Amino acid sequence: MNLEVFFNPRSIAVVGASRVSGKVGHDVMINLTSSGYSGEVIPINPETDSLLGLPCYPDLASYGKEVDLAIIVVPNEKAIETVKVCLDEGVRGVVVISSGFREMGEEGHELEQKMVEMCKKKAVRLLGPNCMGIINTEVGLNSSFIGRHPEPGSISIFSQSGAVCAAMLDICSARHLGISKMVSIGNKADINEIDLLSWLAKDEKTKVIVGYLEDISAGDAFVKAAEEAAVEKPVIILKSGTTAAGLKAAASHTGVLAGVDTAYGAAFKRSGVVRADTFEALFDYATALALQPLPKGNRILIVTNAGGPGTMAADAVERDGMQVALLENRTVTFLREKLPREAAVNNPIDVLGDADPERYAAAIETAQNDPSVDAILVIMTPQTMTQPAETAMAIAAALDGSKPVVASFMGGQDVLPGRMELSAAGLPDYDTPERAVSALKAMYNYSLWKNRPPRQITHFRVNRRRVERIITRRQRTGRMTIGEVKGKDMLSAYGFKIPTGALAISQEEAVEIAERIGFPVALKIVSPNIIHKSDMGGIQLNLTNGEAVEDAYDLMMLKIKKRAPDARIEGIYVEKMIPRGLEVIIGMNRDPQFGPMLMFGLGGIYVEVLKDVTFHLAPITEAEAIQMLKSTRSYEMLEGSRGQRGVDIQAIAAGLQRISQLTTDFPQITELDINPYIVGDAGTDPIVADVHIGLAKP
Ligand code: COA
Repeated sequence: MNLEVFFNPRSIAVVGASRVSGKVGHDVMINLTSSGYSGEVIPINPETDSLLGLPCYPDLASYGKEVDLAIIVVPNEKAIETVKVCLDEGVRGVVVISSGFREMGEEGHELEQKMVEMCKKKAVRLLGPNCMGIINTEVGLNSSFIGRHPEPGSISIFSQSGAVCAAMLDICSARHLGISKMVSIGNKADINEIDLLSWLAKDEKTKVIVGYLEDISAGDAFVKAAEEAAVEKPVIILKSGTTAAGLKAAASHTGVLAGVDTAYGAAFKRSGVVRADTFEALFDYATALALQPLPKGNRILIVTNAGGPGTMAADAVERDGMQVALLENRTVTFLREKLPREAAVNNPIDVLGDADPERYAAAIETAQNDPSVDAILVIMTPQTMTQPAETAMAIAAALDGSKPVVASFMGGQDVLPGRMELSAAGLPDYDTPERAVSALKAMYNYSLWKNRPPRQITHFRVNRRRVERIITRRQRTGRMTIGEVKGKDMLSAYGFKIPTGALAISQEEAVEIAERIGFPVALKIVSPNIIHKSDMGGIQLNLTNGEAVEDAYDLMMLKIKKRAPDARIEGIYVEKMIPRGLEVIIGMNRDPQFGPMLMFGLGGIYVEVLKDVTFHLAPITEAEAIQMLKSTRSYEMLEGSRGQRGVDIQAIAAGLQRISQLTTDFPQITELDINPYIVGDAGTDPIVADVHIGLAKP
């Protein structure tokens, strides 16, 4: 998508360039004429013929020459008419700063639509409305009404909120982070985050992309654009609106557990986006990723002048799933020679409270080349003899730049001169060791994603037509769920192992089936109206003879009649008991934006109470499926712990891959739960104990 005209216009008309200082149209003019922009700026205002020393025109037609970009700053009711004139005069891009559109309700939405359609007809792109404008420091362009010109640099920002843009620029200025581009996308009626990701990915001056989003315009296109951008450079996004407000009512466990935010998390993970959970983290990560090289691993060297903060840092490293580097003997010997006797020479290296700049430099020079170190964290606390500024300079001089380095000069006033030197030397500095570690973790995660093996999706041989028939028939009946019996049929067509069983519509038939398939058996109620069978008394397990089957059949019918008198009963399913194993849940919930989202969790309380589940977008590779299992807190249970044997992890991963294939093949499936999925020792096939499938209306 070519947005060149927005970033490098040769001329800009400001429609609504006000004479009154403090009005938006005036401040846009001030910024445009004071930021070093060398193109032509044309103020448009019918009330005057000169503004800020420039000739002013009553409308664009009176100007009479071609203009690249029009910036609209007139009240919303005049916007349509002014945009029309701009289009008639051949502008190549339109920025609408004015508010009063979709964000105001239906009437505003209509105005907005009309404006976009007018632009589309002329193949002209529109930024906004309700936006703050655009900045490109490369050409001194500042068409915003933000009260500062950012320093040039390598970070490019896009934001759905104009106010957040202003705050972002202010933070960057305070942290001496240079900006390349800033785009306020406002209501994103036309140009959106997907366009910007694609454009900024190719922009040579942009080294890091930082975004603030409240929603995403199109899930699939976003994932594709974000992934393409993340391959080129780090993309860090803060997405607000992550609470459960958007949770929909769902019948499946997977649906209930998959909040709105889970899908965003899964989409960001897939596309390599570094997700920041807070505004603070957004810039913590951006600083590190903009200024430092990526780490090759997760082994961290900590250099400190105090034991406590060193331990805090080591704790944070472990908590974040990284490692405190185990230094080589050689390094330890050298450190012993160079540092005082009382210094701790094993990581964390404690250069002691009275450390001078030379001692920091000696420790860093010695340890930075240790092959067991992937990244360095330097901590300093102010003691009476500490020289923060000199120490920062000595650290910067000692570094060879081969590994990422972050610092935490802890304190306030006393360490300030040191922090300024760190910033001048391009070393990211954080208030606390924990924030510094979290930035290293973000870098490490991104580096892992960047170096991930190629994604290879396994295609299993399946009986697709069988599933197609079941779905089409069910949809024709108007019933949008598929219960255990047909569900198992579908899963069996996709290679899942299901227990032998058959549907009985009488007591005698139940006994007959049980005798045929062999005891012990289970009885399960079959009714389109009963999803949670056990809550209704609709499951009886471990029946070892015909008499037990007869009794269980009667009892179940009685209970169901009492507890669910209106339920339509199709019969009772008689099924061979499944050998003991570990109960897990695998499932899928189709997100309206991002498509099928797979879920894994250990059954029982792990899902119900602890909500220990992980999600991943389909299609999934084997490595990603295994990673899903590993990222649950209960993974140790799968591997085997406390004398318990482990289960077949590959087999669960294969189950997830098969669901991935099934739900990618059939977009009609909106949700699917295999619960429980019984897994046994390595080499045994897991068995589907129960399944529930939800369908979309045809
Ligand atoms: N063509 C050119 N100029 C015109 C015009 C036209 N058709 N009609 C009016 N103007 C001039 C006016 O004369 C005025 O100039 P003046 O101050 O010298 O008299 C100027 O345009 C502005 O018009 P005015 O009616 O005074 O509007 P305003 O400045 O009070 O407000 C907006 C205009 C766009 C700023 C306001 O409607 C708005 O949307 N504000 C919110 C902006 C915002 O927050 N955006 C989102 C940020 S995230």
